[in-house]
Amino acid sequence: MREKGEEMENIEDIASYIVSDGKGILAADESNPTCTKRFDSIGVESTEDKRREYREMLFRSEGMKGNIGGVILFDETIRQDAEDGTSLVEVIRNQGAVPGIKVDKGLEVINDQEETVTKGLEGLNERCSEYYSLGARFTKWRAVIKIGNTIPSKECINRNMEALAEYALIAQANGMVPIVEPEVLMDGDHSIDQCYEASSRSLDALFSMLTSKGVNIKGTILKPNMITSGSNVTSKANIDEVASMTLKCLKSHVPDELPGVAFLSGGQSDLDATAHLNAMNKKGGFKWALCFSYGRALQQPALKVWLGDNKNSSLAQAALSHRALMNRLASQGRWEQGLES
Ligand code: 13P
Repeated sequence: MREKGEEMENIEDIASYIVSDGKGILAADESNPTCTKRFDSIGVESTEDKRREYREMLFRSEGMKGNIGGVILFDETIRQDAEDGTSLVEVIRNQGAVPGIKVDKGLEVINDQEETVTKGLEGLNERCSEYYSLGARFTKWRAVIKIGNTIPSKECINRNMEALAEYALIAQANGMVPIVEPEVLMDGDHSIDQCYEASSRSLDALFSMLTSKGVNIKGTILKPNMITSGSNVTSKANIDEVASMTLKCLKSHVPDELPGVAFLSGGQSDLDATAHLNAMNKKGGFKWALCFSYGRALQQPALKVWLGDNKNSSLAQAALSHRALMNRLASQGRWEQGLES
């Protein structure tokens, strides 16, 4: 399926491939505690084997082909084999997607406002080298920025963006594309303008750091939040406002040479995540591929149908395949509400 085959070793080619032709990324890199939370919601015990079964089911979905260019894995998953003994990495490759890996080590609180920096630079070079040997060709590091009356602080933004740039350099030195994810959280009752301002400051600092440290932008993918109202706001910004504000913010900070912007869904409903992406691609006026790197917005319908029972696998795979296709169409500005029924 993969046009360029497995010999694709140049990070610029890998980055371009992952986001080519409307393809996006399936984020399946939930840590074990997060995966347990998702399984709790369907009353399924989160064991190592059950997590393998669930992810194998996702990765074997027919709709991975042509719609998903990369899959982000967690450390446990990159080492697992499918039921028939094929490695999950191979299952992903056979679907025409590039295997990737989350390499950060989670969050550390830095002040009494509960702001955090992302840990994981220590030993990162060694971890990257091992992940490469296990088949990973791209990586992800997530920084978290919260909005409040007096935050995000300068310190929080600067420390996180500096760590993202250092991580990106190390990933690239190991032959892997870094996904840089500065996530401004939706949680809270902030306005869309506050989200714009915090995201703007973060992206501004991120691209100055990436450039000053000599990260190859052509071999990098940005995974940002969309510019939205806070999740607790009752009268939320509409689809057109979200699309316009997000594009305005990205166009002010993201260099044209970046191959792809792949949004996180961040707690948006699956339909909102698709509709917002579609609205932006319909507007156009940018050089990068504008696509998706969704976790919940791709997996949630499949998880709800699967319910931990193999008898439901085909239906769950159909649900994931549908969302993958809808989001590819949205990445090309070709989605319509009517296609959902
Ligand atoms: P969501 O799309 O569920 O926000 O997950 C994407 C992700 O990988 C967050 O780091």
